[in-house]
Amino acid sequence: MKRSGIWISLAATLFVFSVMVSCFDNDDDPRHVPTPYDLPEIEGFPGNLNIPEDNPLTEEGVKLGRYLFHDGRLSGRLHPDSLMSCATCHIQEKGFEAGIDHPKFKGEQPVGIPNEQYPHGKPTPHFMLPTVNLIYNHNGYLWNGRVHESNEQLGSTDYGVPPLPEFHGKSIESFVWMAIVAPHEINGSLDKTVETISNIPLYPPMFEAAWGSPEVTLERISKAIAQYTRTIISYRSKYHKWTRGEAELSPAEKRGYDLFFSETADCFHCHGGTLLTTHQFYNNAKDSVFDGMGDRYSVTGKVWDMGAFRAPSLVNCEITAPYMHDGRFKTLEEVVDFYSEGLIDSDYIHPLMKAAGQGGVHLNAEQKKDLIAFLKTFTDYELLNDPAFSKPADLGTFTGD
Ligand code: HEC
Ligand code: HEC
Repeated sequence: MKRSGIWISLAATLFVFSVMVSCFDNDDDPRHVPTPYDLPEIEGFPGNLNIPEDNPLTEEGVKLGRYLFHDGRLSGRLHPDSLMSCATCHIQEKGFEAGIDHPKFKGEQPVGIPNEQYPHGKPTPHFMLPTVNLIYNHNGYLWNGRVHESNEQLGSTDYGVPPLPEFHGKSIESFVWMAIVAPHEINGSLDKTVETISNIPLYPPMFEAAWGSPEVTLERISKAIAQYTRTIISYRSKYHKWTRGEAELSPAEKRGYDLFFSETADCFHCHGGTLLTTHQFYNNAKDSVFDGMGDRYSVTGKVWDMGAFRAPSLVNCEITAPYMHDGRFKTLEEVVDFYSEGLIDSDYIHPLMKAAGQGGVHLNAEQKKDLIAFLKTFTDYELLNDPAFSKPADLGTFTGD
């Protein structure tokens, strides 16, 4: 073939290829190039980030996600008393948890449980986890790690068949539709959400900025909210600053540090490192009988996972009561008393709960105070007050905030 012939066939191939691309991908404009989002570079934090290949972080996507995360009209409803979004429960000032004193959506009071935790008025069967530092977790979301890229379970009796199977139970993206339809969360309908968001003049231009066309789809809503959620990173607590030589610990906090990171209180095996968690699952000796419901066993079917839950990161733990997957402890004092003398021995305890045979690590009153003083250095006031993560002012105020 002559030289020009090669160019013609190459051009033809490229043409066919680009037609194919535009056929398969008619939502996103391939010519549209959004601005890559720069995450802060943090000394000592892992570089291996959990970002799906098909949803890289972009300035425009993160911004849109921040709006949607905070917009009560994500519920698909417009009545001011019915609005609900992610931020109804994942509240910035409360460490992206609900806290116990939630002032809105007082409905029927579930027996034995303070109603304030359930903004919709219907009891969620689960206790809160914060949407903080999720970008570092590769081991699965939720208390039992069920939401993981390896998950093959499609659909669920609670929520019906997922609209976007690729997102189901695999990633942060999948929390969006689940939160919208779950009766104990937003209790909405996906079609209504897409319709309502499309009709708010603010949004189509933001979708265009993020994806090159103004169409509002559930996929784009999910991706944008997931992008924003991945940028919520806690690294400016007193403790984190101290590890970088940017702050001082008081003598009591320093004594608490020595307890936490030694065999004396023995917290570091499961809550150590810069992230204050290993992201692993442990049975931490709270009970003697287990029913395998909702725990790690319910995901893996492995007998050693009976009664095991993910050790949560302790970032902001000062303000994220109640504690444990079932909220059984109301204060850090109760948590520390439990590890000190409340451990219950059983067949399934994780080997790292070394003091279980003796009922606990047995700290004296002074040591308990020091340990709690240290736990409080994990509170990241800069994140809790950072305007970059707050509700955008132009969204106005809703009852559902
Ligand atoms: C009614 C309150 C409520 C609303 C609204 C809500 N969540 Fe949650 N969220 C929870 C609770 C409770 C948990 C812990 C659930 C569990 O373990 O089963 C949770 C857990 C999560 C987690 C897992 C965190 C982890 O470390 O594993 C993510 C991610 C999340 N929510 C994202 C969202 C997003 C995104 C939205 C909005 C689309 C949202 N949530 C709306 C209550 C809520
Ligand atoms: C063997 C691993 C292990 C050790 C050691 C351990 N923990 Fe935990 N921790 C866990 C697990 C697992 C959970 C969650 C259990 C659950 O939800 O039922 C947890 C939960 C917590 C919580 C509640 C967090 C929340 O958001 O609800 C706090 C606070 C805590 N641990 C502090 C400590 C302290 C302080 C020590 C040392 C005295 C310690 N832990 C030792 C595994 C461990």
